[in-house]
Amino acid sequence: MRGMTTAILAPLADPAAYHSAVDEALAACAAYYADGTSPLDDAAYDALAGRIRVYELEHPGDVREDSPTGKVGGGAAPTGDVAHTVPMLSLDNVFSGEELTKWDASLARRLGGPAAGGYVAEPKLDGAAIAARYVDGHLVQLVTRGNGAFGEDISHAIGSIVGLPRDLSTPATFEVRGEVLLTSEQFLAANAIRQAHGAKVFSNPRNGTAGTLRAKDRPYVIETTFYAYGVVGLAGDTHAEMMAAVAATGVQTTAATPAGLRVLATVAEVQQRVEEIAAMRAELPFGIDGVVIKANAVAEQEKAGLATRHPHWATAYKLPPTVSRSKLLAVEWNVGRTGVIAPRAVLEPVEVDGSVVQYATLHNPRFIRDSGLMIGDTVGVFKAGDIIPRVEAPVVELRTGEETPIVLPEACPKCGGEIDSSGERWECAGGADGGCGLLAALRYAVGRDQLDIDGLGVTYIEALVDSGAVADIGDLFTLSREQLVDATRSEKRADTVLDQIEAAKTKPLSKVFCALGVVRTGRTLSREIARYFGTMDAIRAADANALAAVPKLPAANSSKIAAHIAALGPVIDKLVGAGVNMAEPIVATAEGGPLTGEVVVITGGMHGPLAGRNRTEMNDLVSQAGGASSGTVSRKTTILVAGEKAGSKLQKAQELGTRVLSELEFAELIADYLT
Ligand code: IVH
Repeated sequence: MRGMTTAILAPLADPAAYHSAVDEALAACAAYYADGTSPLDDAAYDALAGRIRVYELEHPGDVREDSPTGKVGGGAAPTGDVAHTVPMLSLDNVFSGEELTKWDASLARRLGGPAAGGYVAEPKLDGAAIAARYVDGHLVQLVTRGNGAFGEDISHAIGSIVGLPRDLSTPATFEVRGEVLLTSEQFLAANAIRQAHGAKVFSNPRNGTAGTLRAKDRPYVIETTFYAYGVVGLAGDTHAEMMAAVAATGVQTTAATPAGLRVLATVAEVQQRVEEIAAMRAELPFGIDGVVIKANAVAEQEKAGLATRHPHWATAYKLPPTVSRSKLLAVEWNVGRTGVIAPRAVLEPVEVDGSVVQYATLHNPRFIRDSGLMIGDTVGVFKAGDIIPRVEAPVVELRTGEETPIVLPEACPKCGGEIDSSGERWECAGGADGGCGLLAALRYAVGRDQLDIDGLGVTYIEALVDSGAVADIGDLFTLSREQLVDATRSEKRADTVLDQIEAAKTKPLSKVFCALGVVRTGRTLSREIARYFGTMDAIRAADANALAAVPKLPAANSSKIAAHIAALGPVIDKLVGAGVNMAEPIVATAEGGPLTGEVVVITGGMHGPLAGRNRTEMNDLVSQAGGASSGTVSRKTTILVAGEKAGSKLQKAQELGTRVLSELEFAELIADYLT
């Protein structure tokens, strides 16, 4: 099942992609908790968070403090001031039978044998988690999950939630935990009520639930539904037994859903149950995004224990996103900030995974050509790794003969200039220098690994571009204090930026060259080019042949690179005029350093003397100490530096018998090179 979701999970390619992914995720979390109108559904958010996590594992030095990863609700969940009796944890995920088996094996390891008490499989309800406190049989308080340790009091919702009676059939005192959701019927009713009151309709049931639970002073009541999946303060030997006891008091539990609560003896049975639930998904009266599997015996749950955020004794088997059908009405062409010209499908509005979709990405012109898509075609629409829904190939059998070809643009839809269609993605040929990709180019140039002018956030860059103060990278170095005060609206900030600009003038050529954003080059190649030629003058004098001799530079790209360097002449002249350093310092002891002959892979977070260094800086250190660095562990790797939370690379190195050093051991080895 996983194949479909992960195959299209493109990794975040660079810091800019990482930043915008984090911004996107934070905005979604904030919107979700503010009024429940987030454009992201659970699957899309999970996928986005997954890509952020992968990037952060690979670039631990670049992790943003406000990153949503590892925080319940992305850190945006309104925390509230009600302490939870025991933390409200999250669940780890598996996406395939294979991963489920692995989870089971790790459970067995913790238990010292297979789970003797069996498993429980329940639907993973797609709503909002709450705790409901009953004292002497009366519902006294409702609390949101919040950050897991503290939640918000939402007792005002008592009485509007089906399945959570005000009074129990017995005078029991306990806390039930479960999911509040809007059933499909309740969702329609809620939107009808909201429309009648002139309020914005909910985009999907999940967002509607979150918004509804938090709303206090609405002139109308929206009914929601609760299903319990846990209880605190009730004794029992198994999960199933305790949930039955909860149900006997009158609270609705997952056992009351059509997908039920099943006790199963083996993982093979669990797997079969997952398939059964997946098959009934479309008919369920509410949204689910997976199946939750728990060790049934309380004693085994206790033995398996908890990780920081989730229990080891339970996991969520996530189901792939669902596909809906729609009609392709038109194709729009948008020019992104980087100058990429991307096609977007305009669709007949259709519900996908609980929200209405009208636009979807068509990726690139090649996708259009390869899929044979035509205007008027019936297409499958689904949500996967991205926030933006995707279109599947057309359903050719449903063609009527009325379909018309999609016309590809001949000029950049934004500036009317030429299109560079040599790659899979089409770009405005003016690229970063022509205007269509200027903002992205500037953002990249001021990045930490280039000019490191981090006081110039994107808003200020936009202000500088809008005011006409900056039309290329060269202009950054001639900004006046006044222009910066104008853009940043702060004298203090302007001074910080001025200091950073001054410092940027002394950066090595490799960083300055990298900041130019020459086509087909990134950080590694910029460093190679700068080291090879030594000065900007020598780089400018190099033709395609000379460039092709640079280590790691693919000969096929050399003429494009040479042409772009030539085109950047005026910008480089500006940099020279502003006094920016144009030479690469001779690297100290490549020969005879402690890492001579070593191929080093660095993974995990760095601490101690190496703290705060990102991958690029670490790789620089390796090469200064005479070694070669690589991003992947292979038989060629001779040293793996394993920092905190080293994952698969460490495992691979251990399998291959590669020498593994902790970051502290490594720091000692290269102590002479640490400044
Ligand atoms: S058990 C300690 N069971 O999924 C285990 N959670 O991704 C706590 N959820 O925060 C959770 N259906 O909001 C459990 N049958 C179910 C569930 C379920 C939905 C939600 C719950 C949880 C989230 C974790």
